[in-house]
Amino acid sequence: MDIDEKKMVDIEEEIRSLQLDSADTTEMIAEDNNGVVNAEDESAQHEELEKVDKMEEDSKEEVHNQAVEVEKKVKEKENSALDDEATFEKELPKKRHLNVVFIGHVDAGKSTTGGQILFLSGQVDDRTIQKYEKEAKDKSRESWYMAYIMDTNEEERVKGKTVEVGRAHFETEMTRFTILDAPGHKSYVPNMISGASQADVGVLVISARKGEFETGYERGGQTREHVQLAKTLGVSKLLVVVNKMDDPTVNWSKERYDEIESKMTPFLKASGYNVRKDVQFLPISGLIGTNMKTRVDKSVCSWWGGPCLFEALDATEIPQRDPKGPFRMPIIDKFKDMGTVVMGKVESGSVREGDSMVVMPNKAHVKVLAVFCDEDKVKRAGPGENVRVRLSGVEEEDILSGFVLSSISRPIPSVSEFEAQLQILELLDNAIFTAGYKAVLHIHAVVEECEIVELLQQIDPKTKKPMKRKVLFVKNGAIVVCRVQVNNLICIEKFSDFPQLGRFTLRTEGKTVAVGKVTGLNLSSA
Ligand code: GTP
Ligand code: MG
Repeated sequence: MDIDEKKMVDIEEEIRSLQLDSADTTEMIAEDNNGVVNAEDESAQHEELEKVDKMEEDSKEEVHNQAVEVEKKVKEKENSALDDEATFEKELPKKRHLNVVFIGHVDAGKSTTGGQILFLSGQVDDRTIQKYEKEAKDKSRESWYMAYIMDTNEEERVKGKTVEVGRAHFETEMTRFTILDAPGHKSYVPNMISGASQADVGVLVISARKGEFETGYERGGQTREHVQLAKTLGVSKLLVVVNKMDDPTVNWSKERYDEIESKMTPFLKASGYNVRKDVQFLPISGLIGTNMKTRVDKSVCSWWGGPCLFEALDATEIPQRDPKGPFRMPIIDKFKDMGTVVMGKVESGSVREGDSMVVMPNKAHVKVLAVFCDEDKVKRAGPGENVRVRLSGVEEEDILSGFVLSSISRPIPSVSEFEAQLQILELLDNAIFTAGYKAVLHIHAVVEECEIVELLQQIDPKTKKPMKRKVLFVKNGAIVVCRVQVNNLICIEKFSDFPQLGRFTLRTEGKTVAVGKVTGLNLSSA
């Protein structure tokens, strides 16, 4: 989602509406402010008319001011594009950049919390909120208005469920954040995977409302699946936000909060998170905005002495990747725009305007015409940045998502066979896992049919050591080393070299059956 673009469209619409004749305008404004005008109070009618007139004037003035503001922004952007080398060099050390994915069970409050963050960071004005409140009410989804900031398409708003990963930006004192709002519904897990594979930090949203924590946490609930996927996909830190603390069934109860924390902790450990170092719990109300930008007031919650969400996000440390490493950017999307534009997150190295690069695995040699970070054109972008890169030398049709923009001197390997260590989670109908097993492989932006061609070794889950006897099949919960084949060449790395490009999941019929890491590449399979 692009808030700036949306604002522009809204403003354009408003400017257009001002050109209508005044009767229409008055009607529009009166309707827009339905909730504000008290229609029952007859004696106040005259006053109301005055109010409407004033609102009209205010509104005109506001639109004018907004238009001036937009013009100013466009000018600023143009200027910054002119001397962006200097700007980039100046801006680079000032703020770090973090990608944060919001994950968790359906209806936990991910979009509401994401929307509230944008509201609290001053990116959504009261007027827009009022508009969303009205729209949500019309759709009989009163409490969903905050989620509408992130859920921008009609299907999402009507159903109250995120489908596409929403994207937005906000800043705190120390950090520029990109928020990725993943869908919680089990039908959209592949979209969640693509969101999580772009992020370093996860905000796991859990509903504390009676019954909701339980449904999300039970087998088949997405709280579990999302945590396991996030870990595998390289989300190294988790903030577990216990949401809906304002709900009447919770009412900021310490007992409920402690119950959720104590049930989640062993599960997070079992999923591979170091709970002391990499996980932090905190209570919030995404809908009301409590304990988000400022700490919760003692009169609301006497027992919480920890940080609020903004503080916790700002304090999250992630391992810095090497800006001088070989360039790797998995392509998640592409389109035509004065050349071929590819989108993705830089996993290693830096990209500069004018660089020569190669798109793998099809070995297309390309030239970098321009680099965009968020909405801004920049001269260079480093690891962790979500970027759009305009290329010459390759047609848009010749690129697929999962291809990797890569350095020429050290291109990413491409293979059709690799060795991996797999953890079997849950096979369909408790099937057995053996040579010949087929599934869909998800690794960074790659989605490919794959087949297990040989089981090599089973690993003892307790000692983590290989077991002696030969392995022909394994069941749920097993850890096994095996050879995996795909039909098309894919670009991957060994987990030990580039964790982000060497972790994967196997899915069948819409369920995650295993997570794994690449332990060896069969380079002769290229
Ligand atoms: P999906 O995108 O479908 O996975 O859901 P989601 O996690 O994005 O949830 P969403 O933000 O759409 O919110 C679902 C419902 O929970 C809405 O009715 C929200 O108003 C409600 N909700 C979210 N946060 C809170 C909260 O802090 N307190 C209360 N009381 N309700 C909340
Ligand atoms: Mg949502």
